[in-house]
This record gives sequence, C-alpha cells and structure tokens, in this order.
Amino acid sequence: MVDWKAPLGFGLSPSILGAKTRSGTGLLCSRIRAGSSSYRLYRSTNMCLASEAEVKSETTKIERIKVRSIQEAEESIVGTEVKVNGWLRTVRDQKQFAFLNINDGSSLSGVQIVVDGSSGSYDTAKSLTTGSSVSVVGTVVKSPGKGQKYEIQAKSLHVFGTADQSYPLQKKRHSFEFLRGIAHLRARTNAIGAVARVRSSLAYSTHKFFCDRGFAYLNSPILTASDAEGAGELFQVTTLPVAKPKDIKTTDAGEADFAEDFFEKPTFLTVSGQLSAESYATALSDVYTFGPTFRAENSNTSRHLAEFWMVEPEMAFADLQDDMANAEAYVKYCINYVMENHMEDVEFFSKFVEKGLMEKLETVRSQPFAYVSYTEAVQILQESKEKFVFPVEWGTDLQSEHERYLAEKHFQRPVFVFNYPVGIKAFYMRLNDDQKTVAAMDLLVPGIGELVGGSQREERLDVLEKRIADAGLEKEDYWWYLELRKFGTVPHAGYGLGFERLVQFVTGMDNIRDVIPFPRHPGNAEF
Ligand code: 4AD
Ligand code: MG
Repeated sequence: MVDWKAPLGFGLSPSILGAKTRSGTGLLCSRIRAGSSSYRLYRSTNMCLASEAEVKSETTKIERIKVRSIQEAEESIVGTEVKVNGWLRTVRDQKQFAFLNINDGSSLSGVQIVVDGSSGSYDTAKSLTTGSSVSVVGTVVKSPGKGQKYEIQAKSLHVFGTADQSYPLQKKRHSFEFLRGIAHLRARTNAIGAVARVRSSLAYSTHKFFCDRGFAYLNSPILTASDAEGAGELFQVTTLPVAKPKDIKTTDAGEADFAEDFFEKPTFLTVSGQLSAESYATALSDVYTFGPTFRAENSNTSRHLAEFWMVEPEMAFADLQDDMANAEAYVKYCINYVMENHMEDVEFFSKFVEKGLMEKLETVRSQPFAYVSYTEAVQILQESKEKFVFPVEWGTDLQSEHERYLAEKHFQRPVFVFNYPVGIKAFYMRLNDDQKTVAAMDLLVPGIGELVGGSQREERLDVLEKRIADAGLEKEDYWWYLELRKFGTVPHAGYGLGFERLVQFVTGMDNIRDVIPFPRHPGNAEF
C-alpha cells in the first residue's frame, strides 16, 4: 500500500497515487508511466492553487470543454489538461479525496472530479453542496470507477455560485409533478435535461429532413384574423381596455367595437400555420412551418397544451398518398436521428421512464406503418371485444380510447386512418367522389393516439366555397385563401405534427407538460 501523502516528497502527483489506492497496483504503474506530463501538471497545480487570483487566471487561460466531449473523446485525451464548468450533482468527501460530480447539461452523466486531500482546493471542494456552479481545471485520467471512462484530477477549482440546503433538487428522486412546480430548475434533473436534449435534437432533425428534401422553411404569422381550423378555439388578442370594460366603445348592437382595436378587427393567436403554408406552397411547391400554435380548448389531459409547437409541411402537386408517405418518412427520420445521436438519453428513458421504449423505437423506425380507412377502422372497433366508454358508430369522431386501441392493440404500430366522414372534419379537406368522406388522415401511434393530422386540400373553388358556407363560416374572411383556388389552383396536401407529442413518443414521457419547458394549460401560465 502506498502512502498517498508521501509522494509529495517524491515529486509525484498525490492525485495520481490517490487513484491507485482506489484501484490497485496495475493502475498505479500505468499512471506513473504516463506520469512525466502529469508530474509537470502537478507542479503547475501547486502554483495555481496558491491564490484565488491565480486560480482565476488559470481557469480563464484554458479553453473550456463540454462534459460530453470528454466522454466521447479518444484515449489520447488522457493526460490532457482541460477546463470543465457546470453544476454539482453530488459531493463526496472521503478525507483523502473529495469527489465532485459535475454536469453541464451536454450529456446525461456528469464527469467525476477528484480533488486531492492535500491540495489547496480540498477544503473548498468538500464544503460545496449540490447545485453549486463551479469551474475546474485538471488532468484527464482513466477512471478506475465503474460507468465512466475518464475522470479529472483537479488542479484548480473556482466557485461561481453556491447553493444552500434550500436548493430543491437534493439527491433523491423527485416526482414529475413536484418538478412542474420548479420548472425554472427542473432541467437540471436527469429526466428533464434528457427531454430537453432530445427535444432539441428532434427540432434539428425536423429542419434537416425538410431542408434536405428541398422544402423551404416558412415563418407563418402568429397573430391572425382567421380561424384556420374553423373550430373556434381561439385566444383573442386585443389592446382594448379589457381591465376597464366601461371604457370600451360599443356598436349599436351593444358589442365591443373592434374598429377601435389595434388591428381594427378581431384578432387571435393562430391555431395553425396551414393557410399561410398553402399560400407559399402554391408558389414554392414545398414548404413547412415550425412554430408555436395556440388553442383555447379546455382540455386538462396529458396530451393537450394551450400553447404547443406544430410542424406543418405543405406540398403542391401532392395527394393524400404522398402526404402519408411524407409523414411516415419524417417520423422515422426523426427517430433514427435521435437513436444515432442520443443513445445515452434513449437508454435512460427506456430504463426509467417507459420500459421497452428502445424496442418500440427500433420497430417504428424499421417496420412499415399500417394504413386503414376510417370505415374499416370503425368495423375493427365494432368487432373488437373491447369495452369502450364511447360507442363507435360510422360518422362520429374517434375518441382517444379508440385511437389507442387501434395503434396499441390491433395494429401494434403506428397506423394511418384515412378518408374520414365529411361531417367531422375541417372545411378545407378535399371532398372525395363518394361525397360522404374527405381525403383526411390521422396518424395514430401507441401510447399517444393522434400524432399527426392532415389532408389533401380542397382545390376546387366552387366546392370550397360551399364547404365554408356549410361550416357556418364567412366567405369574406377567407377571401385570399379562396383566391389561391381562383388563380392557378393545383392539387396539394399537407399535415400538422404536434411536436410535443412527438417528444412524448420518443422519450416515453407520460405527461405533455413535462416535454415543453414551460407548459401553458388551463389555469397555468407560471414561469
Ligand atoms: O389535427 P390538427 O388540429 O390539424 C391542424 O391544425 C391542421 N391545420 C394541420 C395541417 O394540416 N397543417 O393538429 C395537428 C396536430 C395533432 O395531430 C396533434 O398532434 C397536435 O397537432 N395538437 C396538439 N398538441 C398539443 N396540444 C393540443 N391542444 C393540440 N391540438 C393538436
Ligand atoms: Mg386532428
């Protein structure tokens, strides 16, 4: 047994020998052999530990490296001096050493920092608490510990900010419900941090998928005067003095006079960018929007938000088949991308959040999706032995229990249901020759239900005008949308994918409120 304190006199790094006391002689030899550069580092460590000012100059000199870069580095990183910044997850004091686990959010697992008991930083290190933010300069060494390839032998430690015992994320499991109450801090947990990385990766793969296929990215307006879905679930936007209703001018009919409002007519937050996308698709051929959408529906479910993000591609010269083929390719592309780039996070979700997630994603990305008409789907549901709360009848909308039965039990994979009854779908969907159904499709996926809703659009002016009237909407409100059919109309199709539902599907997270940073839903706009 080597006395870890003795090497000071021998000019060997105590931290190098310290590693030996945890792992055995073999490691000691290899470390000492690799030690000439380590020795030099140790000498500079002694210098930089001398004063806070020197520590600062030391920590600013070396370029910062992210934890993920260390974890993914080739073995040649061993012996290199690096700087890592981050937040402390755990601090363990074992007298001879203090062990800090630092996470900077670049990956699920943090990096272990070993601070030698004899170093000037030891007292600071052992007094630190979970949640503190630090900067460490040190040497990368092979880790004798399990579950990590490398660790860092600290040379210097700088504390940006401490976190006292009231820091709510102490080392224990917290419920997602509890974390929603501290949404400003929850991204520092394993699960929500992993969600944030996967969400970002899905956004990147979305842009990459469409851009690689020649789609132009369109920024559709968020403030709009038209109800794209015709469903009336709109948030009104106004500068009228709603806090002082008496000051609002009224019309002869006793209603608020919107001629006095900012846009001189009633204006809302958009429920969908589709109508704008149709305008640009009938010029650029293929476009997509990816932005926030808003629905004032009073749905307190684990699948609904009042503010959510939607991806809406729109393709000219395309029919319903093209639409579904594009949606299938897109969903598979995203899953592939996440599995290739965020395996550590996917493994985490598969282990702790949705058992079997990995196999599910593997199947989804490699197997063809199922396709079934609405009429056949109704037959399947009626013939099933399943007890549904809502009865299934041709002409009624499928409830979430029906959608999940189809995807989870009957087909056991994502399934497109297409050609829905005209009476239950939006005015812009193309009327089929049977006059009873429209060229609409929903993509239903296991665990979620509806992930995508889309259609071929009604490109015939007279038919569209009639559909608008039948839906009880005003033709005048859609004048420009109708002109797209008057001037050079073409068959076209598109869909909307609920981005948070995609994040849920890929991570296995049960509640949609946990896959968007700051959820908005009835009664909640905190943070
Ligand atoms: O089916 P929806 O209502 O379709 C449209 O808005 C079309 N204009 C899209 C298009 O064709 N361009 O919504 C599309 C998707 C749904 O399938 C669902 O995934 C998601 O948006 N979605 C919601 N996600 C979260 N919270 C809500 N309240 C949602 N409402 C719809
Ligand atoms: Mg829908």
